[in-house]
Amino acid sequence: MSSTTARLPRALPLLGHAVSLMRDPLAFVSTARSLGPIVPIRLGPSAAYLVNDPALVRQVLVGDAKRYAKGVQFDKLRPILGNGLVTVPSGEEHRRNRRLVQSAFHHSRIAGYAMTMRDLAEAKAASWRDGQQLAMDRELTELTMRVVGRTLFSTELGDEVVEEVLRSMPTVLGGLTRRSLGPAVLDRLPTASNRRFDQANRRLRDVVDRIIGDYRRLAADHGDMVSMLMLARDADTGEGLSDAQIRDEIITMLIAGTETTALVLSWVLYELGRRPDLETLLHAEVETVLGADELSFESIGRLAFTRRLVSETLRLYPPGWLNTRRTTERVTLGGVELPAGTSILISPYSMQRDPAIYADPDRFDPDRWLPERVADIPRPAFIPFSAGARQCIGEGFAWTEAVVVLATIARHWRLLPLPGTEIRTKAGATLAPSELPMVTLARRPLVGGVTASAAERRTGARS
Ligand code: HEM
Repeated sequence: MSSTTARLPRALPLLGHAVSLMRDPLAFVSTARSLGPIVPIRLGPSAAYLVNDPALVRQVLVGDAKRYAKGVQFDKLRPILGNGLVTVPSGEEHRRNRRLVQSAFHHSRIAGYAMTMRDLAEAKAASWRDGQQLAMDRELTELTMRVVGRTLFSTELGDEVVEEVLRSMPTVLGGLTRRSLGPAVLDRLPTASNRRFDQANRRLRDVVDRIIGDYRRLAADHGDMVSMLMLARDADTGEGLSDAQIRDEIITMLIAGTETTALVLSWVLYELGRRPDLETLLHAEVETVLGADELSFESIGRLAFTRRLVSETLRLYPPGWLNTRRTTERVTLGGVELPAGTSILISPYSMQRDPAIYADPDRFDPDRWLPERVADIPRPAFIPFSAGARQCIGEGFAWTEAVVVLATIARHWRLLPLPGTEIRTKAGATLAPSELPMVTLARRPLVGGVTASAAERRTGARS
């Protein structure tokens, strides 16, 4: 919706809008949304455009995707993710690798991963004591790291990777957040934080390389993601992925698949902490659907309200709040001529809060996703997983994990916000709560035959 009063901060010489975008990114993209479907800005000395209209965004991500490369945000990720799926340039190489990696995300595989997710979530829930104060964002990040680590490497060989992931990843993710919007020159300075980042990155790569070597020597199919990546063959050429490529794909999954899902879970628990009415509905659904039984893959599809909570969280708090592309040739977008090399910014955050599309857009209302209401939401206006050939390959995995973890926690605990804490929204590489201290309150006796020790035995996790 257009406003006559809203205006972007002035572009500075040399830096353009980069400083305002770094200082208050969410205000910046929200103001830009009110200025029209495609808004010129300046990033440093170069021209860039913020695209706000769902149809134009779809044109960039889907219709004209061949004319765009991934853009400035991904240049920052390349030193860590190498040639993994997130950063590999669009085109033949991406298409080939995506086909090979896809087999690890087939529906039949997700069914197996779901049981690992459930067991690890049960073990996490069993590790908490009644009345305990927890840094819930960190608890969830640890859980999602264990989940991706365990689905990648199901065998004991993978234990070392899981432990290294728990040790190195917070430093790697923290470094990525710091680097995401800043100038690249800062990343190369010999500061203590850059050194810690480089060391953690190297340790992670070394461990993954070593375990890939061990897997190769054993030459068995362990039914996990790494086995799938090793067995995958191109249907036309019969070629597989090299060890270096498999290493890059593994690091990519560890980065792309852990913090993102942990953030969705953090934000949904944050909202539930403020909305006991929704929490009660969640508990009622979990009890009706699961009763005394263990959560099964089949029961996930019946947790409809739980899923709506996740949808609404993805709308209001998309972990990837900003996405980028760069034109590779001259294109016309929304009547504007863009030369090759123009940066495009897309913000799912501001688009998914557009009052022209979503009624009462800042209200957390899971029922907008009811089957009879969902048709009001145009498909291109909901893009937490992006769209087109570069759409998230882990989307099905992430939905399953979010629903399984949320339902499992809800079976055992109420999580209450710590009074007096002001939670702010931090927009860096991802959209994160500034902190999330919560206090556990045990629900009525543990439902089902699922006991803490059984879950622990299954996962090897310690309380
Ligand atoms: C709620 C959780 C998640 C969110 C919000 C999310 C979001 C995204 C987004 C927005 C993209 C596309 C970026 C673009 O258009 O350029 C993407 C790509 C990707 N994601 Fe996710 N993701 C999530 C979970 C996962 C998980 C669990 C995995 C793996 C285990 C994963 C692996 C990937 C990979 C490999 C790509 C690159 C796909 C390609 O370019 O072919 N993501 N994700």
